[in-house]
Amino acid sequence: MPRIVRVVSMADALTRPTVVMPVVVRDGAAALDAAVPRSIGDVELPEHLDESWCRRHGLTGVAGTNVVLRGFGGTTVVLVSVGTGDADGFRSGAAASVRLAGDDAVGLLLAVDESGDAGLIARVVAEGAVLASFDYKDTTVRPFDLVPLGAPLPSVATHDAVVDGARRGALVAEAVNWARQLINTPAGDLPPRELASRVEERLERLPFIRVETWTESRIRAAGLGGLLGVGQGSAQPTRLVYATYDPEPGTPLAHVALVGKGVTFDSGGLSLKPAESMMGQKTDMSGAAIVLAALAAISELALRVRVTVIAPMTENLTGDKALKPGDVLTIRNGLTVEVLNTDAEGRLILADALSLAVEADPDVIVDIATLTGAQRVALGDEVAALYASNDDVAARVLAAGARSGEQLWRMPLVDSYAAQLDSDVADLKNIGKAGVAGSVVAALFLRRFTAERPWAHLDIAGPGRSDAWKGYVNKGGTAFGLRTIIDFVESFSQG
Ligand code: BES
Ligand code: MN
Ligand code: ZN
Repeated sequence: MPRIVRVVSMADALTRPTVVMPVVVRDGAAALDAAVPRSIGDVELPEHLDESWCRRHGLTGVAGTNVVLRGFGGTTVVLVSVGTGDADGFRSGAAASVRLAGDDAVGLLLAVDESGDAGLIARVVAEGAVLASFDYKDTTVRPFDLVPLGAPLPSVATHDAVVDGARRGALVAEAVNWARQLINTPAGDLPPRELASRVEERLERLPFIRVETWTESRIRAAGLGGLLGVGQGSAQPTRLVYATYDPEPGTPLAHVALVGKGVTFDSGGLSLKPAESMMGQKTDMSGAAIVLAALAAISELALRVRVTVIAPMTENLTGDKALKPGDVLTIRNGLTVEVLNTDAEGRLILADALSLAVEADPDVIVDIATLTGAQRVALGDEVAALYASNDDVAARVLAAGARSGEQLWRMPLVDSYAAQLDSDVADLKNIGKAGVAGSVVAALFLRRFTAERPWAHLDIAGPGRSDAWKGYVNKGGTAFGLRTIIDFVESFSQG
């Protein structure tokens, strides 16, 4: 069940059934900070958490490993490893704490007075706790209490940093959980029109955001032939959400454009997928949910940066008006595309969206999409593929990914493979050679619509879904990449 994060005192925390102590484990041994009391409730803490004690109790450098200590009076104290104490160790430790507490209220002690990083630690702890509490079915909210410790009390500065960090971490994780909820909603309950209206409802009340939903007449008038083409096989109307965030109109802030693939269900179209491959395709709108949830968080964080979000939303079905292999579509930027495989639909709708993004004249464009099965084959379900038009953009996205605990691997845009997209009847075709470098060729296709702007592309077909809970990563649609995108945008925020 979802958690809300509060910052409370030690005395308050002692009334919780479960109290958690994060411990750093280095070279097999742990140590308790001087600010940690000798006993918590009716539980005496061990004198030395040396190597042999940790080994006997299974407390290791793997974040999330833990020791449960029970007192006679009913207090449960859990020592939970945060690995070597980096950001992701704290996220994973907080996630384990939430899972261990089950439905119980939990107090987590934070000895951060000396570290100087109190705000950052509180932020990632709140993030991990709220991410791990995602529950598609149960939405009752329980508290997750953070206790800043100091000897005898934390400084006012520490306390304030913890309150602010916790607020930011919870807010980011709640944006992720909102995206996860949309992503995991059955396609039958969330066609493009419904997805757009839920997003509009959430975004329109947030500061400095303007959101517009384009209907088919507007999409046609704007010449978005790729998006209309993909949608024409479905009885559900196509939409495009165009949203902007500008906290200081008139100030020349950095401007980031975000584009996300919003295929609410991908059957493959007439190039129909086999039943097995179709099962998870309600999550093919992950990119759209991610960029729109990112925008909500960016506004709530009050970042000083301009953002334009473009999210095309459609269904890829087989109705009697469906695209046929061999059909040619004209994209917003004027390029024509021969559609030889209707299952390579993501790139068609992104072509239009990227063309629109170029017209918004941003400093950098980032798109995110569950684009190719080939990405999953190459990197599995824990690592996304990153493509970037230049090394600076790549370095910036990689740094954001590292801070966020989301693994990215930069893949090459192999220029010579672009010839695979040559068409006899149009400017390019939508597939390359079968079975070779499918994720790379898809990225090369998208590049044709970026007008040589600074650009990064995240293919999350693999990590966008998980078959099991792993730490703070949920089973089902994960919204992988969302925190990296927020962090990336934050890196442009002034002051
Ligand atoms: N939505 C799929 C990609 C996908 C596959 C996402 C598995 C998540 C899990 C995409 O639209 C697609 O079908 N891509 C094709 C492209 C091919 C026809 C060139 C693919 O990867 O098979
Ligand atoms: Mn497809
Ligand atoms: Zn798709």
